[in-house]
Amino acid sequence: MFVRNSWYVAAQSDELGAAPLGRLILGEPVVFYRAGDGRAVALEDRCCHKRAPLHRGRVRGDCIACGYHGFEFDPSGACVRVPGLEQVPANARVRSYPLVERHRYLWIWMGDPTAARPEEIPDFHTNDDPRWAQTGTRLPVAADYLLMVENLLDLSHVGFIHAGTIGSDDTGAAIRWDSSGAQVVGVRSSIDIDTPPHNRKQGFAPRCDQTKVMTFLAASHVTIDITTVERPGAAADAGTQPRAMHIMLLNSITPETATTCHYFWSSTRDFAIADESITRFFHEMTVRAFDEDRVMIEAQQRIIDLDPVAPTVSVAGDLGGVQARRLVNRLIAQG
Ligand code: FES
Ligand SMILES: [Fe+2]
Repeated sequence: MFVRNSWYVAAQSDELGAAPLGRLILGEPVVFYRAGDGRAVALEDRCCHKRAPLHRGRVRGDCIACGYHGFEFDPSGACVRVPGLEQVPANARVRSYPLVERHRYLWIWMGDPTAARPEEIPDFHTNDDPRWAQTGTRLPVAADYLLMVENLLDLSHVGFIHAGTIGSDDTGAAIRWDSSGAQVVGVRSSIDIDTPPHNRKQGFAPRCDQTKVMTFLAASHVTIDITTVERPGAAADAGTQPRAMHIMLLNSITPETATTCHYFWSSTRDFAIADESITRFFHEMTVRAFDEDRVMIEAQQRIIDLDPVAPTVSVAGDLGGVQARRLVNRLIAQG
């Protein structure tokens, strides 16, 4: 069971070139291709003739032609040509999905097309704003997407899973959670901690305050907004305002099936944006860290599969994940 009326990230823009791309989203086969003018299109990836996957076909102008017997479908999903037939059968069509290309992603709406409102796509502008640098990729994970959502909403795991990579000393930092509408927000404040090395490299004082704001945007996005501010009075030029640097982590975890997901992450920052060595550093560090999460979450999924109703105990740090699951269940019940 999934929330259907929601915008999901289906692909990174640059994953879709001239060739069609097939991908399972919420358990449904979807084919993506670019029409003649470059516009991205999403159709059911199941030919209405003999159910061959359309992604094995080829793009012809605005249409995609099935690779099996050549039926051609336009961007609305209507079959417009059947080789050897004068007249296309009236019921020959596949489903089409609302699709929007924005902020370097292809956003798909899997529910009622009449309810799709592009203005409700989350604001991921830091992913293509020239004042921000960004790096990211897609990580396939063999686990329920909500396990990854929970992981991102409970950063108390950082000191354990990531002890050898990004582990930090603020496991006990205070956190406040708040849930309203279709989001859950957690604020974690760490006062007077060691300044992270990448901020030190920019000339930051050795101690800083850091605020992490974790926002779950139902049904599948978790943003982590990290603000690092030099300790007051520690600024290099006495008398000036303490400097602040921002990192915005954009995480979109799209269910592939009930027990697999596509994890799209992007690490964006508003400092040293032209410094490719910092971009590389963030990319490599994040790839390593998220792979540590992936290994643990896939192992967790295998244990869950053995007995999905085995009892568990929740503690204070789980509050964000608990609220996120509650919200998702409520949206599923609303249909
Ligand atoms: S299966 Fe697609 S044309 Fe026959
Ligand atoms: Fe992690």
